[in-house]
Amino acid sequence: MRAATAFTHAPRGWSHAEAATITTAGLTAWRALVVDGGLKAGDSVLVLGSGGVSIAALQIARMMGAAVIATSSSEEKLERLRQLGAEHTINYRQTADWGKRVLELTAGRGVDQVVEVGGPGTLAQSITAVRVGGHIALIGVLTGRQGDVPTSLLMAKQVRLQGLIVGSRRHQQDYIRALEQSGIRPIIDQRFPLDRLADAFRLQESGSHFGKIVVEW
Ligand SMILES: NC(=O)c1ccc[n+]([C@@H]2O[C@H](COP(=O)([O-])OP(=O)(O)OC[C@H]3O[C@@H](n4cnc5c(N)ncnc54)[C@H](OP(=O)(O)O)[C@@H]3O)[C@@H](O)[C@H]2O)c1
Repeated sequence: MRAATAFTHAPRGWSHAEAATITTAGLTAWRALVVDGGLKAGDSVLVLGSGGVSIAALQIARMMGAAVIATSSSEEKLERLRQLGAEHTINYRQTADWGKRVLELTAGRGVDQVVEVGGPGTLAQSITAVRVGGHIALIGVLTGRQGDVPTSLLMAKQVRLQGLIVGSRRHQQDYIRALEQSGIRPIIDQRFPLDRLADAFRLQESGSHFGKIVVEW
């Protein structure tokens, strides 16, 4: 009985592969922006890179009427991010000081929210990029587990920095209602059969994917 009440319905018409993108990447992005961040139309959101969480966050932000600035390591991916609705894009390999570039793109104000998937290697730039009183959702640690944090800037800008682990069943139900209403579908880069699981991990390790990688059996 307890297990039965832990499930939610998938969005109507979604395949199992598509629905599998919801429970971790999508739900975490939803909670970061909508539940913890209180996202509203007209807000600005910074997403880092083009992995599963960041693209789900981009889609949620656009669905909610927010403007998106996205970073990526390649020009080809930046073009695809613009096609998905990012208003501005920054190549973080070419522009190491991308936090400052975000400030320029927002006329010195900074973004309302950052979906932080990099961790110690990106957090300082994210603190530069966010507005006074803005929200940074610390979701991932792609650049490592520990590092320096510019605490005085964090304090002076009165930034809300929140770590989070996915979301609740209720959050997922709300997210699924929003997905059904909006009609957006997840971006799946490649699908692998279970017996090619190692290839799926190799693709993720290469960082060449855009969005989600799915394993099916
Ligand atoms: N807290 C939670 O509940 C939760 C939930 C889901 C995921 N996570 C964590 O969140 C992180 C992202 O997950 P994911 O599934 O989206 O991973 P993913 O799909 O493997 O994303 C990898 C992408 O991140 C980008 N990236 C890597 N290093 C970067 C950097 N220094 N600056 C900016 N972008 C960088 C790259 O994008 P480009 O190729 O475009 O440069 C890379 O392709 C992971 O650490 C994961 O463990 C946490």
